[in-house]
Amino acid sequence: MASSYAVCRLHMRGRGSLGKCLQRLDTFLHRSIGSDVVAAQAEAARRDGSDVKYGSKSLYVVQAERQEQAERSVLISCHSRTNEKKFLKDLSKHGDIKKHFFYESYGVYAVVEFSSQESVASLLEGANIPTVSHESMVPFKSRLLSLRNFNSVDSSNQQAGQQRQPQTTPPINELMQRLSREESIDHQITHLTESYQLTEENIRLRFLVCSLLKDIAAAYFPECTIKPFGSSVNGFGKLGCDLDMFLDLDGISGRNVKMPKSGLSLEYQMKRASSERAVTQSILSVIGECVDQFGPGCVGVQKILNARCPLVRFAHQPSGFQCDLTANNRVAMKSTELLYLYGELDPRVRCLVFTIRCWARTHGLTSSIPGAWITNFSLTVMVVFFLQRRNPPILPTLDQLRELAGPADKSVIEGNDCTFVSNFSKIPLHSNTATLEQLLCEFFDFYATFPFSKMSINIRKGKEQNKPEVTPLHIQNPFETSLNVSKNVNASQLDRFVALCQESTWLLQQRENNTPRRHTEGNTTGPWGLVQLLMPLQVAGVKSRKGKRREAASERIKSLLESLKNKN
Ligand code: GTP
Ligand code: MG
Repeated sequence: MASSYAVCRLHMRGRGSLGKCLQRLDTFLHRSIGSDVVAAQAEAARRDGSDVKYGSKSLYVVQAERQEQAERSVLISCHSRTNEKKFLKDLSKHGDIKKHFFYESYGVYAVVEFSSQESVASLLEGANIPTVSHESMVPFKSRLLSLRNFNSVDSSNQQAGQQRQPQTTPPINELMQRLSREESIDHQITHLTESYQLTEENIRLRFLVCSLLKDIAAAYFPECTIKPFGSSVNGFGKLGCDLDMFLDLDGISGRNVKMPKSGLSLEYQMKRASSERAVTQSILSVIGECVDQFGPGCVGVQKILNARCPLVRFAHQPSGFQCDLTANNRVAMKSTELLYLYGELDPRVRCLVFTIRCWARTHGLTSSIPGAWITNFSLTVMVVFFLQRRNPPILPTLDQLRELAGPADKSVIEGNDCTFVSNFSKIPLHSNTATLEQLLCEFFDFYATFPFSKMSINIRKGKEQNKPEVTPLHIQNPFETSLNVSKNVNASQLDRFVALCQESTWLLQQRENNTPRRHTEGNTTGPWGLVQLLMPLQVAGVKSRKGKRREAASERIKSLLESLKNKN
């Protein structure tokens, strides 16, 4: 099979390099795809069995590195005029500082990464328990600290003492103006992706919050880990997205150890429960209680234990993250790994996903409130499916990824086969040279005419299949194949999605919309291309503007009522 493919492998080295990466893609595609050098490297890797990744690491490796980095980090609430130089000088008395940055969220905070964990221990050793009158403290010590030493505050009122890293997306109006000044729709899409995607600092902060939470859970389960999953790590996260966390107890030693054939054999006495679900519920209930009672900065804790996937939801105030903590959620971890892999295979995947997610949010097709609308996860699977259906395909099917898997990749979770290749260099790709603009237009056209009433979207096969059940939208869960990930979507939400796809195709096909509009007076640039697609009035107004807007609002209210009814 591999010989019929051109092997093209383009991996992003860090988020900031998206532009460069697209340039590389451009040059690469204009050269001959499947260049001899890349093919030879891949072939050499295959022959000697080495794990050549061309800059890409598997999510598993990335997670381990980030976790280790987070363990050596602390989060400190500072004064808005904390003098960076003095602050670092004082901190470095405890050891070498590898990286630090400041950000703002209900106050100014600093993330400080030391070179060694001993430095963190030394810093904590010197920290005091706060003394306050009229209140008592829960004496739980953590790596979330407050700066009480005002020596490090800048006395000059001139400017803030430090540069702060943004943790939110730029205001939409400002972004629209910037996009309008771009030269092509491809550049607009890249610009949008770069403005919305998680920054290096935001990713570090996410891992640090997981690590802080782990310290609480470790009171009961010292060998546990808490890993982020979902959009925080799958490469499709937008600044401000929630932080999905998974309490992993599989590392607890002895859990999967085989019995010795001879000699002393001991086992732990353990409390039994009626099912895995009951165990998960009781663990989350206790950890949720601890987070609520002792977790510094954790507010609004809700234990949602009767959901299909039990979880503890809370806000982590110092980071500004909305957090969902789950346990025993290995399949979701696998879907995260799979989406990460797809995003790493070709830079166009991420750009397209960001654009479609943003487009859907602008038009109210997705929402942060659970309901009858399409989720970001479903939308991402739809983009993957669309890219598998290109001719030649841009992404391989899940079955193809499964065929390429080695023995170490084998994974069966609760009877579901979750096996797929983890070594990126083994994945052959076709030479499809479509531009982002072409792909965006084709995406809208593809779903504007997709036979949703009869067919199901299936990324395992990479082909539409007959729908196994009567639901408006059927997207097969990639791993739990009897489940539909878009079961919640009602007919009117699907109709809105299809109508918006039709209108967006139409808009992109109009010549006056897909070329930059320059106004000579005042040198301003009019909205065009992607900007027009993201303007609610323009898209909803292509046909009978008034009626459509009214219909959209009433649909949202109807869906909200339905979701409340279901919840009750
Ligand atoms: P945003 O939070 O909206 O940015 O995207 P997300 O991908 O993080 O989605 P969400 O927080 O809803 O879910 C987190 C992760 O859980 C997803 O990335 C998937 O890996 C998994 N997930 C969510 N919904 C489903 C579903 O219906 N089926 C399966 N198998 N996994 C899901
Ligand atoms: Mg999420």
